[in-house]
Amino acid sequence: MSPVFVTGAAGFIGSSLVDRLLADGDEVVGWDNFSTGQERFLEAASRNPGFKLVRGDNLDPAALKQAMAGCGSVFHLAANADVRFGTEHTRRDLEQNTIATYNVLEAMRANGIKRIAFSSTGSTYGEAELIPTPEDAPFPVQTSLYGASKLAGEGLISAYCEGFGFEGYIYRFVSILGERYTHGHVFDFYQQLIEHPGWLKVLGDGSQRKSYLYIQDCVEAILHTTRGETARDSRHRVQVYNLGTSEYVRVSDSVGFICGTLGLKPELRYGGGNRGWIGDNPFIFLDTRKILSTGWKPKLSIEQGIVRTLRWLEANRWVYDARR
Ligand SMILES: NC(=O)c1ccc[n+]([C@@H]2O[C@H](COP(=O)([O-])OP(=O)(O)OC[C@H]3O[C@@H](n4cnc5c(N)ncnc54)[C@H](O)[C@@H]3O)[C@@H](O)[C@H]2O)c1
Repeated sequence: MSPVFVTGAAGFIGSSLVDRLLADGDEVVGWDNFSTGQERFLEAASRNPGFKLVRGDNLDPAALKQAMAGCGSVFHLAANADVRFGTEHTRRDLEQNTIATYNVLEAMRANGIKRIAFSSTGSTYGEAELIPTPEDAPFPVQTSLYGASKLAGEGLISAYCEGFGFEGYIYRFVSILGERYTHGHVFDFYQQLIEHPGWLKVLGDGSQRKSYLYIQDCVEAILHTTRGETARDSRHRVQVYNLGTSEYVRVSDSVGFICGTLGLKPELRYGGGNRGWIGDNPFIFLDTRKILSTGWKPKLSIEQGIVRTLRWLEANRWVYDARR
């Protein structure tokens, strides 16, 4: 079997996917520019003869095309993964998420590779009217540059499926938690609690309702559907899946899980309002019946995922220096 090409291989989700692919006997070419990726996440993979790492940037189409040669399918995870700050750097999401996706598709076309899996996001729904939000929710109004840039990436992928006979798997993730987690609210809260255990600043009023999924459940869902080739015979050869659990928690519940796990009772200082930042959606809860109907189901609850994340952060405080 031809090797699998993984963009963003040194990232939180990418490196977890790489380890699982290698464990299952796949050969993997990992591609990353290490803008947020960590060499330490690829330590085990690098010892595996089935793994090859190529350092490169998605905005360098010639290098991308060369690195992909000989591969059989692509998992495209590299991106600017931070939904905040879009309004401060208006080109970043466009370049890193939309143009980069176009470059990945063109490199695939040049190499005759036709299967792509893409990490999109629940942020593409903006502030959905319909909750839990299904994949075929009314065409959403965008509320973040990140979501808009990912939705544009989805559009390109489906157009390549139609135009060039590609097979596309698009995953709209809720927030992902677990080992190697390097950004998000648990990361921020734990950092604060190390620095000042007596108080915790919480963006918004704590009432925001959010959904989370444990990393290994996320990786399993991706592999379950790509290996099952669920897009191959579908209309337009593209499948869009929401990835999440059948539950959500309030930010204040999450604060409770975190403080309970750490044995702390900090004074809570709320920023106020029902949003943490521009584009923050106060209620994210995706309808996951479609992915559940494929036979996949998550093993961990949100609370269990938060506890695993904290345990990993406690044992790997180096990531705070690495991500400064
Ligand atoms: N973590 C989440 O909760 C979450 C939720 C929804 C969607 N996603 C999506 O999942 C994917 C992975 O997210 P993550 O949390 O692992 O983020 P991450 O920042 O840990 O991983 C992204 C990886 O891509 C690499 N990269 C970035 N720009 C690149 C470029 N131009 N060329 C080559 N490599 C580049 C980074 O160095 C990093 O290793 C992203 O596409 C993100 O948008 C993540």
